[in-house]
Amino acid sequence: MEQFIIKGGVPLHGEVSIGGAKNAALGILAAAIMTDETVTIENVPNVRDTRVLLQAIEGIGAKVKFVSNNTIEINGGSICDVIVDYEYIRKIRASYYLLGALLGKYNKSQVALPGGCNIGSRPIDQHLKGFRALGATVDISHGMINTSAEQLVGGHIYFDVVSVGATINVMMAACLAEGNTILENAAKEPHIVDVANFLNSMGANIKGAGTDIIRIKGVEKLHGTTYSIIPDQIEAGTFMCAAAATAGDVLIKNIIPKHLESLTAKLIEIGCTVEEFDDAIRVVGTENLQSTNVKTLPYPGFPTDMQPQMAAVLSIAKGSSMIIESIFENRFKYVDEIVRMGAKIKVEGNTAYVEGVEKLTGAQMSSPDLRAGAALVIAALSAEGISQIDEIEYIQRGYEDFEIKLQDLGAIIERIDSEKEALKTKLKIG
Ligand code: EPZ
Repeated sequence: MEQFIIKGGVPLHGEVSIGGAKNAALGILAAAIMTDETVTIENVPNVRDTRVLLQAIEGIGAKVKFVSNNTIEINGGSICDVIVDYEYIRKIRASYYLLGALLGKYNKSQVALPGGCNIGSRPIDQHLKGFRALGATVDISHGMINTSAEQLVGGHIYFDVVSVGATINVMMAACLAEGNTILENAAKEPHIVDVANFLNSMGANIKGAGTDIIRIKGVEKLHGTTYSIIPDQIEAGTFMCAAAATAGDVLIKNIIPKHLESLTAKLIEIGCTVEEFDDAIRVVGTENLQSTNVKTLPYPGFPTDMQPQMAAVLSIAKGSSMIIESIFENRFKYVDEIVRMGAKIKVEGNTAYVEGVEKLTGAQMSSPDLRAGAALVIAALSAEGISQIDEIEYIQRGYEDFEIKLQDLGAIIERIDSEKEALKTKLKIG
């Protein structure tokens, strides 16, 4: 099992370039199969989740060509199956995007029910509600979600909860439905807008993405396109937190600063200096971080995907902070791990109470999920001494070349895949 070995206490300095947004890429790669023409997608993050989804897309018969690590050509003209039931596909939630894409194109789809996730039960009732409102029959049997329709027809859907996945999934299916669809209480994340822009570049007719009402006029068919994915606001935010936690000075490049406004505001509030440029943000941390309170909310509120990373920063801020997680019911699993480094955090229900400490100390930890793993890396980078983090394949689901980008900023971090190598590395960096 691969691990990270980190020697903390080194302020990060330099520049880091951010890759494509994973949570936009997963919707866009699925939507790409909705035409029989070739689609070229640039700035695709080369991470485990996108590779697994591409494997499934190839598995149902589409042609997938890696022009480079981050540019993919997809042609859905040769799809011969609408059943997606592979062992590996259950490991990524975003497999459910193939439901909407295949239903939209073929009026039928069958996808293995995605497994739960370490951050909560993550139901998909809103996805299914949307498909039914478009005239599809939907049922779950033998671990598969089955959808079918004579012909999808436009509908009016009011989502009971703001859901990124349901908004993207139903928006995709509605593109090829007959007539008009209105999605109300839609999610407004930047990646929703990116998927809508991508579909429109294929000839779809979607208006209002990025607001809570999205209007879709069904079209006959979609055509090929070339499209570049927006930068990943969560990867960017993770490096911003790493700069803050190590009292470093980092220029985060190739981003859209507006997508990070809620995090920028919080970092300034706790004493960091943050400078915004057209497509970059400079974060200068301080040894004298102050506490603050954070509540996660749908965009443009503070993103739940940045909650663990912010907790790592606040664990060494002076004073007490409160973190309320309002999106997922189980997103504090990193707390038990970070407490091993001397952090003082208590969780009650959906709130974590953080009492800042002077310094964290290196420890052996295990990554419970993707963003929790990133938070443990940030904590280890700020800590005194050496940390070992295992289960890093969670981190590799959403961060491309994470340790390489951190090494380029001066971090002492190695990726190793055996206990023997761990010992050697600890001696080398100790
Ligand atoms: C997406 O998950 C992201 N994943 C998550 O990022 C992100 O945390 C989440 O949106 C919120 O921003 C991808 O895009 C692949 P939701 P998604 O549907 O779509 C409830 C990461 O770290 N809900 O917006 O699954 C749900 O339980 C990952 O990159 C229903 O009740 O999230 C949750 O409480 C982690 N019924 C809330 O809505 C539904 O049908 C928001 O979930 C759907 C969701």
